Amino acid sequence: MEENAREAAWAALMELAERPGAAAIRPLFAADPDRFARFSRQAGDVLLDFSKTAISDAVLKALLALAEASDVAGFRARLFAGAAVNATEGRAALHMALRAEPGDDFRAGTEDIMPEMLAVRARMEEFTRAVHEGRILTPTGQRFTDVLNIGIGGSDLGPAMVARALWTNGSPLRGHFLANVDGHAWAEMQAKLDPARTLVLVASKTFTTQETMANAALARDWLREAVGEAGAAQHMAALSTNLAATSAFGIAPERVFGFRDWVGGRFSLWSAIGLSLALTLGWDAFARLLAGARVMDQHFCDAPLPQNLPVLLALVEAWHVNGLGYPSRAVLSYDERLARLPAHLQQLEMESLGKRVAVSGAPLHRASGPVVFGEPGTNAQHSFIQLLHQGTTPVPVDFILIARPDHAYADSHRKLLANGLAQAEALLNGKDAAAVTAEMRAAGVAEAEIARFLPHRIFPGDRPNVTMLLPRLDAYTLGQLVALYEHKVAVLGALWGINPFDQWGVELGKQLAGPISAELNAGKPRQGAHDGSTAGLISRIAEIWPEGHA
Ligand code: F6P
Repeated sequence: MEENAREAAWAALMELAERPGAAAIRPLFAADPDRFARFSRQAGDVLLDFSKTAISDAVLKALLALAEASDVAGFRARLFAGAAVNATEGRAALHMALRAEPGDDFRAGTEDIMPEMLAVRARMEEFTRAVHEGRILTPTGQRFTDVLNIGIGGSDLGPAMVARALWTNGSPLRGHFLANVDGHAWAEMQAKLDPARTLVLVASKTFTTQETMANAALARDWLREAVGEAGAAQHMAALSTNLAATSAFGIAPERVFGFRDWVGGRFSLWSAIGLSLALTLGWDAFARLLAGARVMDQHFCDAPLPQNLPVLLALVEAWHVNGLGYPSRAVLSYDERLARLPAHLQQLEMESLGKRVAVSGAPLHRASGPVVFGEPGTNAQHSFIQLLHQGTTPVPVDFILIARPDHAYADSHRKLLANGLAQAEALLNGKDAAAVTAEMRAAGVAEAEIARFLPHRIFPGDRPNVTMLLPRLDAYTLGQLVALYEHKVAVLGALWGINPFDQWGVELGKQLAGPISAELNAGKPRQGAHDGSTAGLISRIAEIWPEGHA
């Protein structure tokens, strides 16, 4: 019955999407001078403007009906109640508890998780303040100057993105992030750091991730060589759920900051995984980041669906992916400090929503998560934006604009904002044949030339985009923005009927890498173990790099 209602809601939406002119946006503006006011919403510090999409009143109504029929509100209630919404792993998804405050009520199943969560947060705060105040020093009695976070995926991208966004010259410690199992990355990192002044954080939920454990072992050797085995222990801390493995690695229990399996990797920057942020930005900034995310949690939890930013952002995506068939989305943040935001969103969205079966295991019969990519503006304007304006398939864009800068160069900031606004407007309005012709005539171009160049110079327009406007970029507003995207992902999980909290698709490559590594060491592929291409490449590498095998 429920499934029927849901399919009926999808059918009603698709009926609107298939109408002629369904993708047109300009007529909606022409017909409604109040469109900006009617198709934008504010929550906390975030203004979401989705007026530059082909969402009419009728489409919005159909999208909200789809949210109803998909029981988004029920899913949201189960999420906040700590039900096992991550069905394939039998876990809750309670990252909201990580930014909760005393008095908030979060339970995983029936377990009250607040005391443990607040206790870990208190330990993180005490450790951070002790490092900053010089109560925790290096074994030779010096202050730490640098923090090296070793982790990958969610144990790297979220913290690295926030550190890039918020670190300033006045911040307490310098932060560095090592993720890839590439000796070049480690060699570069070593060259920048003094082991005698560096605090190494091994960040891994599982403490089994091959790349992280390999890099952590290299860093441990590096520290031991510089400050001895006992000294090295004072240079390290672990952020993990796997206490047995952290102790086997040689990290003392008082240097381990834990969290629970109901924190997904890509949702973990708020947990002990964020210790690098507390250390490099200061405790108060980390606390503000959590407080900002909590603002968005409360909005998501309480606001009715038609006013709910994560819900609306998810519905816009469903309209673009399913209604209009757009398979990708670009994120253009007009702020250099958000340079790593697209990388974080790539994991958050594609690892969560890149699924081909429903929670039930049945194959999906409609598209799920789009390809997400991005760059800061204006740099993007000089690389891939050509395709966004004139490519064959529209690519919806998220523009992220920050109204007030934190520098003294007002003219630069005006230019930056003007470019963001101009791109959004250009994607919407395009430039038709009449305008191009008039422009070329005014410039004295001959008629034959005009005819030749006209098709190349036309911008079709009606390319959808949303804008998220923040008054400024700081820990509090960034927390809100990131939590907005997290909840959008959860809503899309409910709309598409998929589990946004697992990631089985990352396992196969990991399984295969182990044996291939052994074969590279042996200098030849195992007989019959591979397709001809893989076997051929293993052999070829062994020929070119004979030192790589025993
Ligand atoms: O390989 C993907 C993944 O499992 C991500 O989901 C996760 O964020 C990352 O690896 C790192 O995992 P861990 O924190 O356990 O080292």
